[in-house]
Amino acid sequence: MHTPVLLEQVVEALDVKKDGLYVDATFGEGGYSKAMLDKGAKVLGLDLDAEQINNSKFIIQNSELKNLKLIEGNFGDIEKVAKENNFFPVDGVVFDLGLSMKQINQSGRGFSFKKLNEPLDMRMSLKTEMTAKYLLNHLSEAELYEVFAKNSEEINSQNIAREIIVRRSFKKLEIVGNLINCIDRAIGEPDKNVYKRIFQALRIQVNEEFENLKKGLDGAARIIKNNGKIAVVTFHSLEDRIVKNFSKSQGLKLLNKKPITNRRGRSFEKSAKLRLIALK
Ligand SMILES: C[S@@+](CC[C@H](N)C(=O)[O-])C[C@H]1O[C@@H](n2cnc3c(N)ncnc32)[C@H](O)[C@@H]1O
Repeated sequence: MHTPVLLEQVVEALDVKKDGLYVDATFGEGGYSKAMLDKGAKVLGLDLDAEQINNSKFIIQNSELKNLKLIEGNFGDIEKVAKENNFFPVDGVVFDLGLSMKQINQSGRGFSFKKLNEPLDMRMSLKTEMTAKYLLNHLSEAELYEVFAKNSEEINSQNIAREIIVRRSFKKLEIVGNLINCIDRAIGEPDKNVYKRIFQALRIQVNEEFENLKKGLDGAARIIKNNGKIAVVTFHSLEDRIVKNFSKSQGLKLLNKKPITNRRGRSFEKSAKLRLIALK
């Protein structure tokens, strides 16, 4: 079982109660759901990736299954899915954004810049039509620049976009190694931080992550009880900005002025930020 970042803080912040109704909008490997089930809560778990849902059915024990409903779906549709499954109104919703380590290391979909021979796919759901390979081989230089700059604020976005156009004029980009070569040529030397930002930017675009986050937050605010809470764990400053701006623009209450952070672990774990939202 995967132990997610900020697990204790989320469970405490949501004040998980026996028989309370909760939506785990990013089920993943079930770490949050398991912690809520252990407190006697009823949980609706959602994940866009069918593999995550199928694998986790074996992890969650039989005794807990009666209190868990697992659905393959997009949290952009959270209001509809929750209502269809009689999870309305709910005591809490949790979003733990991004990918799980298992998806990065084992899915074979080109999420990691270290897996040089994997295809440039990057879809969380294999039902999504768009892939990273399509974007890299079909967008114009200006469009590629926009994807990189808007989703990652990488300062070398222009040079990288140009290098991709040059490379694909004689050979399509197919695998992770092809993209790494373009980045290396554009910036002159290997740089893991640039790889990370460019890969993240493409993944965000393929999976429409910012749009889904806005829809998901909007839906979550519509299904929580008057005293319910929404917990959002982000790993990207632009996502955190969306959460903050969403709360302000919708007249919701941000319960902690500054996000709760994580001081331990690897660098991506240290970038985790927890925001808590409630109705006013
Ligand atoms: C960081 S992992 C969650 C880990 C989880 N909290 C755990 O304890 O194992 C994020 C998960 O959210 C899923 N996901 C990302 N975007 C989604 C969306 N729009 N709708 C539903 N699930 C999504 C990913 O497939 C991934 O499994």
